Amino acid sequence: MSRTGIRVAIDGPSGTGKSSVSKMVAREFGYGYLDTGAMYRALTWWCVDQQIDLADVDAVVAQANSFDLRMGTDPSNPTVAVGERSIDQEIREHALTVLIAPVATNLGVRAVMKQRQRDLMESLAAEHGGVVAEGRDITTVVAPDAEVRILMTASEEARLARRSKELSASVEATRAQIVDRDRSDATVSQFLTAADGVTTIDTSQLTFEQSVQAVLQVIGEATGRG
Ligand code: DC
Repeated sequence: MSRTGIRVAIDGPSGTGKSSVSKMVAREFGYGYLDTGAMYRALTWWCVDQQIDLADVDAVVAQANSFDLRMGTDPSNPTVAVGERSIDQEIREHALTVLIAPVATNLGVRAVMKQRQRDLMESLAAEHGGVVAEGRDITTVVAPDAEVRILMTASEEARLARRSKELSASVEATRAQIVDRDRSDATVSQFLTAADGVTTIDTSQLTFEQSVQAVLQVIGEATGRG
């Protein structure tokens, strides 16, 4: 193991099982867990709370630099707060989710987030012996030098079925949400095909347990653990 610990980077679109699998894998090894999507959600929530115009590129970048984001990185109980204010529920609301696109596609914001996420990954890996960080650009931009790099994919059908179950919404309503968000997200990150050196895991036909096993196997092969 390297002196600074093992960084596991997992990218992919929503509905692939990425979040639940990442948390389970981090728990398995006692690693820290970093939900980078929650960071974009938190910044969006904060800007709305501060009545910042989300289309004002420079104003949002300034907030990205200065806001007091506190990521709770225990995979059994990940939390998000700004200052003392917990926002775990607020950042999952549909009304907030539909506002994220201009924030997540703001290139100045992405540069700031990249640095904040990279720093967090390094410190968590050093503290816990490893970290599992999930998102859209972790394998390619935030930590292209991570010890383990995985892209989780799934057919649109499988993703829609999982998401509509989670959201208790119809497949058709979910399709509109998922397709729109993927399209917007894909304008700034490349997460639909694997970059060089990134292992693809297609979870379309896998149960949750099988997806976890597949990730553990990749980690085992890359690090000699597992
Ligand atoms: O994974 P999620 O739904 O919580 O992500 C929220 C938003 O943030 C989504 O629009 C994708 C974006 N995101 C991103 O652009 N880069 C990341 N590393 C993680 C998420």
